[in-house]
Amino acid sequence: MDTPPPSRSGMGAALRQDSALRHATGEARFLDDLPEPPGLLHAALALSPVAHGSLAPLDLAPARAVPGVVAAFGPAEVPGRNDISPSGKAAEVLFATGHVAHWGQPLALVVATTRDAALAGAGALRPEIAELPPILSIEAALEEGALLMPPQVIARGDWEGALAAAPRRIQGEFRCGGQEHFYLEGQIALAIPGEDGDLVLHSSTQHPTEVQHIAARVLGCDYNRITVQCRRMGGGFGGKESNASWIAAAAALAARLTGRPVKLRLSRRADMAATGKRHPFLYRWRAGIDARGRVLALDATLAADGGHSLDLSGGVIFRAVTHALNAYDVPAVRITGLACRTNTVSNTAFRGFGGPQGALLMEDVLHGAARALGVPVDSLRERNFAGGPNGAETPYGQALEGDLIRRVWAEARRDADWEARRAEIDAFNAAHPTLRRGLGGFALAFGISFGIMAMNQAGALVHVYTDGSIRLNHGGTEMGQGLFIKIAQVVAEVFGVEVERIRITATSTAEVPNTAPTAASTGSDLNGWAAHQAASAIRARMAAVAAALWKVEAAALRFADGRVTAGNHAMDFGELAQQCWAQRVSLSATGFYRTPDIHWDPVAMRGEPFFYFSYGAAFAEVLVDTLTGEYRVTRADLVQDCGRSLNPAIDRGQIEGAFLQGMGWLTCEELWWDAAGRLRTLGPSTYKIPGSREMPKAFHLRLLEDSPARANTIFRSKAVGEPPLLLATCVWNALRDAVSPLGETPRLDLPATPERVLAALRSGAQVRQP
Ligand code: MTE
Ligand code: MOS
Repeated sequence: MDTPPPSRSGMGAALRQDSALRHATGEARFLDDLPEPPGLLHAALALSPVAHGSLAPLDLAPARAVPGVVAAFGPAEVPGRNDISPSGKAAEVLFATGHVAHWGQPLALVVATTRDAALAGAGALRPEIAELPPILSIEAALEEGALLMPPQVIARGDWEGALAAAPRRIQGEFRCGGQEHFYLEGQIALAIPGEDGDLVLHSSTQHPTEVQHIAARVLGCDYNRITVQCRRMGGGFGGKESNASWIAAAAALAARLTGRPVKLRLSRRADMAATGKRHPFLYRWRAGIDARGRVLALDATLAADGGHSLDLSGGVIFRAVTHALNAYDVPAVRITGLACRTNTVSNTAFRGFGGPQGALLMEDVLHGAARALGVPVDSLRERNFAGGPNGAETPYGQALEGDLIRRVWAEARRDADWEARRAEIDAFNAAHPTLRRGLGGFALAFGISFGIMAMNQAGALVHVYTDGSIRLNHGGTEMGQGLFIKIAQVVAEVFGVEVERIRITATSTAEVPNTAPTAASTGSDLNGWAAHQAASAIRARMAAVAAALWKVEAAALRFADGRVTAGNHAMDFGELAQQCWAQRVSLSATGFYRTPDIHWDPVAMRGEPFFYFSYGAAFAEVLVDTLTGEYRVTRADLVQDCGRSLNPAIDRGQIEGAFLQGMGWLTCEELWWDAAGRLRTLGPSTYKIPGSREMPKAFHLRLLEDSPARANTIFRSKAVGEPPLLLATCVWNALRDAVSPLGETPRLDLPATPERVLAALRSGAQVRQP
């Protein structure tokens, strides 16, 4: 047992999210709660009423004529570049010029003394658009060869030869839908102009540095004129990784051009119409298997709907193709990832970032193999897991930990009491005429690190004041995931003080510059180490002062329980801080961290891009009404590897929330565009996110005990933000199990809404008729 016991407030303590109580009481300030500065103007976007067409220069006069409207801006008013692309390389505009590429695309911004007047001004505009036929499906885009970027292909071995030589060949096609982020706090920004071109930009963003860059690009100014701040988001889920930037840039533009503070807050409708979502995918695959269900060869195409512009599709496809084999080994394989260009909103990051879509592939392949052989799908998993008797290396060249995959799988299966329940469920289904139960499992290997290697860096800034209180700042943002408390725990651990001594502060580009987004689940890994570096630097200086004072070795000093001790000597942490000041020793330090050892060749599509993998496994049981297709998830059993959890309370909350959000994506959340390309699911009345009632009544979650956590992560913890979302895939498998008790597995596309479940039940029934 080399795991130190959890300290009361440092690493391993189950503390609340830093603002949990203030969230509950309403004291926590979200951006729209900030006191409004005098002279504030409110902004509203004018959005395209059609999906595709050529656009005549927009006459802004009708908006300017509306009472209360102060100004209106289109592409001609942009002083810098009308370019909001995250990469800085693709053609992505803030305001449409010449043509519109999706319904809901921003055309202009109107500012007024009230929000209603701004909305009325935007509504008064009459864009002239000569409509063109839109591309509205992945199939149509594939047919026209409409791609946003060249294909990303990962291949290994003679997959063609292996396919031809395999004892049996199977194939399949299926699709999954997109997903609206549905953060409770919508997109919002507040721009406050200062003197001489300075601008403070409050933004609900996961990526303050990109907000700074894009606002500066649109304004045509240096980065140092713009300070971006974010204390917290009311949810981001990837939706505020790139989309927050253009919203903030629009507010900044209006503030710059009017000289007054400007707030842009999107209504839920406008938010859903104008901001990107999770990428829907279409899958087509061919596989070769042996008589025992080992997958020997696979050729698969994963075609994503990227929407009208590139945005973050490159990274999403990267993660989809690197996760397409998930925890499994296929010796000869080709995976082709395509980003299709369609006339819908530009799809973007969403929890898992293409990984969840990638990991669906092997589920369908294994179901295909199980159907071909007439065996339960779960009996094929161990035969195909990476490692053990199979290869451990992914087709892109990084090794998976096969022992851990088998361990989480076996533990989840044991927790789920699989053997007994399988028999019980089969007996129930045989006896019951209308209700059917299903049991499904899933195992996961999810790579942690950004696919763009340069993003794997972080900075922190720590001050110790002379009363021993500590101020902590770092590049990570808080979106509800508990990052701030986790990093405060790291700093508390280093200084040996109570976490209450640490003041958590808003993320700001003025305090820690040039940061990566808080994304890819790397927030605590990256910022945790950066804060550790900063705190350790100060601690070393403080230790030197105490050691000289007491004439002891610095190594003999202990920082614990808010005190510094050595033998019989002891001093309060604050007293030592005061001593340091008196001796003119700096009590402020920056910290910096870069993830070691990772590398990726984007041309060869090979390397070791992930610092480590997060492992998990889950089982779900569903109860389906075969007359209506309605169902409930009645039980779930999850095992998730969090390494040595920095904060098990936060980690459990992340896993529960992620699982339910994953369930929403796979079951009830359905985006629906009409034939003209207008999104018709624009609010909670038409777009169903899961609620407390959807949470499985029996929900058993266990963090993997004695996790080996082999990579040198901060206190040997592991990332938790995204991986457990994928565990919800077991619900899809449970539904397939329920609709196909006789080994027939009818196609069940995602989201597996009651309608689709009913259709699958019907098609399954037809298949079984003689
Ligand atoms: N949890 C809450 N409550 N709200 C969120 O917006 N975003 C998720 C996840 N958990 C999110 C969340 C996403 S998409 C990511 S990438 C991670 O948190 C980011 O934070 P981390 O790196 O600190 O885990
Ligand atoms: Mo998360 S999709 O990486 O913001």
